[in-house]
Amino acid sequence: MSTTPWWRDAVIYQVYPRSWADGDGDGVGDLPGITSRLEHLVSLGIDALWLSPFYTSPQNDAGYDVADYRDVDPLFGTLEDFDALVERAHALGLRVVVDVVPNHSSSEHPWFQAALAAGPGSPERARYVFREGRGTDGELPPNNWTSNFGGPAWSRLADGSWYLHLFDVTQPDFDWTNPEVRAELESVLRFWLDRGVDGFRIDVAHGLVKAEGLPDADLTLDPHRDPTGLLPMWDQPGVHEIYRDWRRLTDTYADDRMLCGEAWVGPPEALARYVRPDELHQTFNFSFLLTPWDAAALRASITTSLASAADVGAPQTWVLSNHDVVRHATRLGRADASRTVVTEGIGPDDEQPDAELGLRRARAATALMLALPGSAYLYQGEELGLPDATELPEDVLQDPTWERSGHARRGRDGCRVPVPWAPAGSSLGFGPKGDPWLPQPEAYARLSPASQDGVEGSTLELYRSLLRARRARSLGLGRLRWVEHQDPDVLWFVVSTDAGDTTVVTAVGASPVTLPADPAVVVSSEPLTGSTVPAGVTVWLDGAVAPI
Ligand code: GLC
Repeated sequence: MSTTPWWRDAVIYQVYPRSWADGDGDGVGDLPGITSRLEHLVSLGIDALWLSPFYTSPQNDAGYDVADYRDVDPLFGTLEDFDALVERAHALGLRVVVDVVPNHSSSEHPWFQAALAAGPGSPERARYVFREGRGTDGELPPNNWTSNFGGPAWSRLADGSWYLHLFDVTQPDFDWTNPEVRAELESVLRFWLDRGVDGFRIDVAHGLVKAEGLPDADLTLDPHRDPTGLLPMWDQPGVHEIYRDWRRLTDTYADDRMLCGEAWVGPPEALARYVRPDELHQTFNFSFLLTPWDAAALRASITTSLASAADVGAPQTWVLSNHDVVRHATRLGRADASRTVVTEGIGPDDEQPDAELGLRRARAATALMLALPGSAYLYQGEELGLPDATELPEDVLQDPTWERSGHARRGRDGCRVPVPWAPAGSSLGFGPKGDPWLPQPEAYARLSPASQDGVEGSTLELYRSLLRARRARSLGLGRLRWVEHQDPDVLWFVVSTDAGDTTVVTAVGASPVTLPADPAVVVSSEPLTGSTVPAGVTVWLDGAVAPI
């Protein structure tokens, strides 16, 4: 029996409950819908699913605004539906990771309502970050911080006090210096652990602790790149204490419960601090996600990522898409690969992607990613090759970013469109009837699993082959060794495991790569031409193969 904990090399599939499967036909996905589609994940070959929030919420930020941490929003079902989902998933051999949102609650949370009612200076207000304003009458916000969605990070109440919200006005930040907050969130973790969840994805994991005194921030700094800790709202040293407590808590449960932090912290060594042996098990590797399709940049990102994780004895994770970024099949088909574009959405007036090129590169990128040592995250629909919806009309946009930014940033709706399950029907099989909550692009009709199942060369079959081979070869537990190639646009490396060696070659640039004759192909993101890897293709070969 292996003693390696499951999360070290797990492939974890993100389900965005609003958009995966609608059981009751109201146009929004739900838990019974998810349960009814779990076989899709079994046939894909993943280890676990991560569910974005399904908790009671006014849905001002699609559920990342939680009003009751211990219940299911009626939109998504009931606690019984949740239990049924976990039971079915476990019976199918799938683990279940859920989101926890500890930085802020919804303004409809009973605690915030009590804080509003209780007034300035009350213990109820001390659970959130209330401050007096600056200026002669306190008419100016307490500091210059801005909300991630645009506009100031402070809102003022009728009684003159200001409260902090790093996101929407309806997402007040908790005050983590208050022991009540700590106790409450730990109790929330226990609630779900006792219900059988296998782990948590921690929302805004780097934001909980703010610098003492809440000093003004240098807003020219880029939290994703600049040295860490300089911005008073992100990556403050005190945050690590919280995760030590959480780790102690999860360690009291059997079966390797797992904690994965969403920490948009750029410097790799700063990110690695979150996965020291007594802290979280994983963090998302956003610097890999943000790396453009460029061989030198990819190689540097992979090398640095592996080294920084190894320094603290943690496995690295890899991710290319999620519910906050433009899908990689779209991103990689555009000339503009800047970070802003990744996180802020594409509209009809922006450069449109070359869909064919984007999908080709996306398949190659995924094949590259799934060969890398560590754990990998997939986002629903990427196994179908779904592109972002880049032509959503403005009147359907729902991401709070759109309004908060004064219509300057479209936000993340493009990657959140309900997935197609069938080639026809009002919501392409997403639900039994009705229109989906966001309109699906025309291209989705030919990308449903029904259209790809058993079809050689389809993206769905490619993902299945990759995941099967990754498992058979234990690639997630491997060691990676780079091999030099004369063409700087080629990535060539060998992953060694107890199961043997696998050579991975990606032709990132415009030129094909010639392999030794009769290559032992394990899987390839597109067919090879003889022994040539065409441009924009990744191939896995059996054994340690040297370039010719
Ligand atoms: C995280 C979530 C994002 C949400 C934000 C505020 O970044 O991934 O979707 O809007 O936190 O909770």
